[in-house]
Amino acid sequence: MTETSVPGLEAILLVGGQGTRLRPLTLGTPKPLLPTAGVPFLAHQLARARSFGVRRIVFATSYKAAMFEPVFGDGAEFGLSLEYMTEETPLGTGGAIRNAAEGLTAAPTDPVLVLNGDILSGHDIGDQVRTHLARNAAVTLHLTEVDDPTRFGCVPTDDDGRVTAFLEKTSNPVTNRINAGCYVFTRSVIDRIPRDEVVSVERETFPGLIESGELVLGYHDRTYWLDVGTPAAFVQGSRDLVLGRLASPALPGPTGDHLALDGADVSPEAKVNNGSAVGSRAVVEAGAVVSGSVLSDECVVEAGATVTDSVLGRGARVCSGAVVRDAVIGDGAVVGPGNELQAGIRVWPGVRLPACAVRWSSDI
Ligand code: GDD
Ligand code: MG
Repeated sequence: MTETSVPGLEAILLVGGQGTRLRPLTLGTPKPLLPTAGVPFLAHQLARARSFGVRRIVFATSYKAAMFEPVFGDGAEFGLSLEYMTEETPLGTGGAIRNAAEGLTAAPTDPVLVLNGDILSGHDIGDQVRTHLARNAAVTLHLTEVDDPTRFGCVPTDDDGRVTAFLEKTSNPVTNRINAGCYVFTRSVIDRIPRDEVVSVERETFPGLIESGELVLGYHDRTYWLDVGTPAAFVQGSRDLVLGRLASPALPGPTGDHLALDGADVSPEAKVNNGSAVGSRAVVEAGAVVSGSVLSDECVVEAGATVTDSVLGRGARVCSGAVVRDAVIGDGAVVGPGNELQAGIRVWPGVRLPACAVRWSSDI
């Protein structure tokens, strides 16, 4: 437990989104379960929450809800007690928080931590909670700064840290300071969100609280922060964890410039580096180059292939001489010999790209 832990703190983890921007990876696996630095993404968030004293977490599930419990069970293995609350139809972030609150034991005046399920953050959760309690706020939002605030919730504050507006995905941001997706709610404020209705905390609850003069507080810091919702951010997150740019108690073993899980078969004549993670039973053959990438279990990178800043889904294969850069290759897909994929390309699960005859024949 860290010095700044808050014993007995309960949390809600929002994990019901469809992960649309990460398709096709999220067609078969929800975003929070995608392998990240060798473990399901959420394992990093769970371990971090635990290090700040959280012992009980309620998962707010919807999309592929049934896939979570087989992975995390009752949480005992992680030193946690886990509960699963499922929305039959997605209720939005606010409706999900209200629904999940049925699984809390916190009293009305207690603080409750709420986490978006796709965030890597190095901030001091204990300090955020203490700030919330000291100021007796209704909600305290973790804020960070990004270059392009239009993709996030833009959150201006006054000199005392009071949030003066909440502008979700506005084309006219008034500050670079954004909602970092980690909230401390006073429990009674959650109980006031309408039940069984679709509600957005970003578009309804927060603006409503601000409008009615309640204290919505910003907790700003400049530590590591990343939303892994896009393919580029997802590979960056895994890479940063492997390279130790963000410490995580959930890393499956010691890492250097790459991480290979037990049972991975990496040729000594292959070059695997820049924070790549190689899943179990995955094969990287001699002369292959894998840089900054996530290779899921059972995928194969054949001799002489190059994979850079990309994600290979489970059982995907990149054949000899192929070049894959800034790409997402779905589960079981095959990139035939000699193909050179354009940056940003996504190959759907099971698709087989035939050998690229011209390039391949000129290579041999
Ligand atoms: N249970 C449930 N039900 N969860 C949901 C639902 C729902 O209907 N909709 C979204 N979620 C979960 C997602 O799984 C994710 O963990 C979290 O809520 C946020 O959804 P995203 O789809 O990732 O939102 P975003 O990244 O566009 O924006 C949000 O996060 C930004 C920070 O990364 C907003 O909160 C922004 O204001 C914020 O800046
Ligand atoms: Mg997100």
